[in-house]
Amino acid sequence: MEIKDQEKELLSLIDPDKLPVHIAIIMDGNGRWAQERDLPRQEGHRQGVETVREIVRYSSKMGIGALTLFAFSTENWKRPPGEVSFLMSLPEKYFKTELPELIRNNVKVNLVGDEEKLPRKVRRIIREGAEATAANSGMVLNFALSYGGRWEIIQAVNRIIEDAAAGKIKKVDDEIFSQYLCTANLPDPDLMIRTSGEYRISNFLLWQIAYCELVYTETYWPSFTTLDLLKAVHEFQQRKRRFGKI
Ligand code: FPP
Repeated sequence: MEIKDQEKELLSLIDPDKLPVHIAIIMDGNGRWAQERDLPRQEGHRQGVETVREIVRYSSKMGIGALTLFAFSTENWKRPPGEVSFLMSLPEKYFKTELPELIRNNVKVNLVGDEEKLPRKVRRIIREGAEATAANSGMVLNFALSYGGRWEIIQAVNRIIEDAAAGKIKKVDDEIFSQYLCTANLPDPDLMIRTSGEYRISNFLLWQIAYCELVYTETYWPSFTTLDLLKAVHEFQQRKRRFGKI
């Protein structure tokens, strides 16, 4: 069957009223995608940006509320400097061509991660993207850059200590704690996808995925298509979400 026909068939099986509200994706396998084609790893990352374009467009068109993409982890700083600087050049490549469309499509861009660790230029690019889309009310697009779940929890705890010392808070509960995370004001992801056949969380959104449905696919991120996204959404809709109840 043609891919377009497969997409149509899947779309007919997907309930538009029960879409995931927040999808988080661990975009993995760029290096292996390149290696299998005898290409430098950079080519995998370059192609990975093309997949980001496709998936962002499609998700916002579908009516997904928020999409959080794991683009660079706190651990990725340990990669060879050449690869780190190539990865740091990708936000600029992406926003240069994509920002007008993001604005048009009512997408709101946001950075999730340790902003201070990022090169000034990357910070500026993302900030410009965030400012240009700040008034948008459609899909929230979070780029997780220099992000780690443990870092996020620890920075939350430290800010809570400061606010407690300043007398601003006395006690924390689930809701208050969530307000100190990078995803404050967003619903927790209800679907997390990891590509490339790895079955790990890798320090992504540790607090927020408490009740998240995890979907794994063997496909490398550069080969991930809108059809794969629909398959994941369909699988999500087949799951019985009980939240600890019976
Ligand atoms: C993991 O694959 C992927 C990354 C560390 C980088 C992901 C980044 C993108 C897909 C592009 C981001 C786009 C923007 C606009 C910021 P890997 O290199 O670990 O692959 P491997 O496990 O096969 O080696």
